[in-house]
Amino acid sequence: MAKPRTTFICQNCGAVHARWAGKCDSCGEWNTIVEEDPAGGIGGGPGKALRKGRAVALTALSGEIENAPRILSGISELDRVTGGGIVRGSALLVGGDPGIGKSTLLMQAAAALSRKGHRIVYVSGEEAVAQVRLRAQRLKAAETDVLLAAETNIEDILATLSLEQRPDLVILDSVQTLWTESADSAPGTVTQVRSASQAMIRYAKSTGAAVILVGHVTKDGQIAGPRVVEHMVDGVLYFEGEGGHHYRILRTVKNRFGPTDEIGVFEMTSGGLREVSNPSELFLGERNENAPGAAVFAGMEGTRPVLVEIQALVAPSSLGTPRRAVVGWDSARLSMIIAVLEAHCGVRLGQHDVYLNVAGGYRISEPAADVAVAGALVSSLAGLALPADCVYFGEVSLSGAIRPVAHAAQRLKEAEKLGFKSAVMPKGSQDVPDASRKSSIEIANLPDLVSRIAG
Ligand code: TYD
Ligand code: MG
Repeated sequence: MAKPRTTFICQNCGAVHARWAGKCDSCGEWNTIVEEDPAGGIGGGPGKALRKGRAVALTALSGEIENAPRILSGISELDRVTGGGIVRGSALLVGGDPGIGKSTLLMQAAAALSRKGHRIVYVSGEEAVAQVRLRAQRLKAAETDVLLAAETNIEDILATLSLEQRPDLVILDSVQTLWTESADSAPGTVTQVRSASQAMIRYAKSTGAAVILVGHVTKDGQIAGPRVVEHMVDGVLYFEGEGGHHYRILRTVKNRFGPTDEIGVFEMTSGGLREVSNPSELFLGERNENAPGAAVFAGMEGTRPVLVEIQALVAPSSLGTPRRAVVGWDSARLSMIIAVLEAHCGVRLGQHDVYLNVAGGYRISEPAADVAVAGALVSSLAGLALPADCVYFGEVSLSGAIRPVAHAAQRLKEAEKLGFKSAVMPKGSQDVPDASRKSSIEIANLPDLVSRIAG
């Protein structure tokens, strides 16, 4: 038999190294490499008999896939993010900062599913059963039939699950606490997290029960250790929020059974998480309509339009290299907009500090926000407030042209619903109803926008 060998595994990214090093070459993190037994729990093992696989014709499966049986929680923000309910036999990873509300969300989901007659098992490795029950009471979920277990060992968990009638969903909170006897490393290490997750995913596939794994995230936004779980599971959801704001966003990062650009919005209250079905109202809630430097961006998150205020502050700089600070948007994109304003519109920002903030701690990833950002910058520099009843969207190219973006009609409809009277949008936007086109201003390039704002 071959001599058992240990390897060195980075606890941040899962990269395998032949020897210990202070810094991981793969992700650049320091002091993350730990010696582990690589064979732990991952297949292999001596004396495995040769087994036969089974091949199935593709056509024979079509019905099964289309009707992938899903379990719906009735919490519509959650159901949308999972692509119309959690698919039976699938494994999901829910990641987020410690204390963001993952356990709260999943307890509420468990209660909602249980009320609809599904059998749910909630396995907590972090809190005792009494603590979980206390939280459930606070969330008014205590009177449901959710089964609780405080367990961290995979073999024990699987034994417990085999005693009960087969559950529809098993929640494991959190994956960092799980460990299996087949791996030698300490709980929380990559090997343990991977082996334990694999065992649970296998359980899901073989029994048809859905499994949700909860994972804590480190400060840099990566799920610590369990990042290696991301590609093993069928879906990855992130639960995020900004300190000081009480709303939380559940975002799909990966979904084998649905779209990946959906968000669910919740508000954390004393009675748990509350669904926010119209996030635009929330993001526009504290708007100061007459202040220069603010533009309302008509954005899209997956299939849903979201209106959010973009705030800019442009002030003369006393520094040799002026400051550029961005919260909620891409700083490289801001530099690009500033460069286009300078090169094509004669707007000089080289002697000015520029601060950009997306209101409410919301984060935008769409290039469609370019026009709103440019509008906010010019408005702040000129000291002139933009019309309060106007929304902005459109992508700016390096030549200064404004390019059409997708879903113009939906953006306009949402703006109208919230009382906005007009929109500044790219010329040539598709599918816009005539009525909306009449009330909006179609612009072809950035100099056009600047002259409209600053005269
Ligand atoms: P929790 O779900 O324990 O976070 P995680 O599992 O992601 O670590 O959430 C804890 C936070 O949520 C804590 O700061 C208190 C807050 N909270 C409320 O505001 N209201 C509630 O009803 C509950 C249960 C928690
Ligand atoms: Mg928790």
